[in-house]
Amino acid sequence: MSATSTTSQAPATLLSVDSLKVQFGIPRGGFPWSGKATLRAVDGVSFNVRRGETVGLVGESGCGKSTLARAIIGLAPVASGSVRWLGEETVLPNAKRDTSRLRRDVQMIFQDPLASLDPRMTIEQIVAEPLTTFGQDIARADVQRRVLTMLERVGLNAQHLRRYPHEFSGGQCQRVGIARALIGEPQLVICDEPVSALDVSIQAQIVNLLRDLQRELSLSLLFVAHDLAVVKAISHRVLVMYLGRVMEFGDKREVYGEPRHPYTRALLSAVPVPDPAVERARRHLLLRGEIASPLSPPSGCAFRTRCPDAIDACAAKIPQPVTHGASATRVACIRVSDAPKEVPRPEGSPLGGLGD
Ligand SMILES: Nc1ncnc2c1ncn2[C@@H]1O[C@H](COP(=O)(O)OP(=O)(O)OP(=O)(O)O)[C@@H](O)[C@H]1O
Ligand SMILES: [Mg+2]
Repeated sequence: MSATSTTSQAPATLLSVDSLKVQFGIPRGGFPWSGKATLRAVDGVSFNVRRGETVGLVGESGCGKSTLARAIIGLAPVASGSVRWLGEETVLPNAKRDTSRLRRDVQMIFQDPLASLDPRMTIEQIVAEPLTTFGQDIARADVQRRVLTMLERVGLNAQHLRRYPHEFSGGQCQRVGIARALIGEPQLVICDEPVSALDVSIQAQIVNLLRDLQRELSLSLLFVAHDLAVVKAISHRVLVMYLGRVMEFGDKREVYGEPRHPYTRALLSAVPVPDPAVERARRHLLLRGEIASPLSPPSGCAFRTRCPDAIDACAAKIPQPVTHGASATRVACIRVSDAPKEVPRPEGSPLGGLGD
């Protein structure tokens, strides 16, 4: 399925996140008696995931990607905003949460494949668990058949059924994690840095496996990653986050081919090009300074303290996303209409075997 066909059929929205804020109370100076400061891990994020598409979520470490992912399934303290699954509110601040439907329909795959699998359980038990957890009345023979079918689908086989996680490589453990996530036929799988802990050669295999499964099963994926090449390979749309906020969200081809937000341009500019001659000739958009603290984000645009295009007005108020381009990319930057049009285009990918 191409990004174009996905968008042209205007598929139904599965997940809808609106103005979501997640905050943590942090003891000031590390001392419990000094009161608490508010850490704004996710600060007013809105986006959606449509049926059968992959949304890539990128941004530097600490920008709130995992917290956003966890908040969607009700595992992070939502301060305000909403998460809707198939149009129904699922996570409300201070409300009794009924996430049972969401827990069946939405599954997660984690970064550390070995740590996310129970070491005392066999692969068969691990993969079968979601089928039994939700009280489904499935005959044992059926469970075994489904586990084996799923293991084979992810590149494992019957010989692996009785083994334990520690007997597997990182890539194999991630295959088990994928089988476990998919056995209950979820509609959305949230993949939180599923390949970051793996060797580069194995990363490509797992990304290709996820992409094939997404296409075959018409799954939706929310794919969190640091690596822009990986996100480009697997996503239909891309969400760029900075300090808890959305900077840019749109069609992959637009975000990568014509990045509008200065932060997106800087991120793309930092991706090395394999050809040393091309790499030397490229102009990089260097980010100045350090990422600000989510305990005291800058006024106005969160990115302005590092932005090469910042002007005084950027400090005045938080920029609201404005729609640009043929695919209605949303960009939160008041300078975007007159921003310089230099587009760093990293050709090629550090990952072998990953196409567009
Ligand atoms: N349980 C928690 N208590 C307090 N602060 C937290 C908690 N979880 C996350 N944070 C803070 O929230 C911010 C966002 O963290 P998060 O793990 O979501 O970032 P991330 O984008 O996933 O980073 P990485 O790329 O390193 O995984 C960070 O400042 C982090 O320290
Ligand atoms: Mg994370």
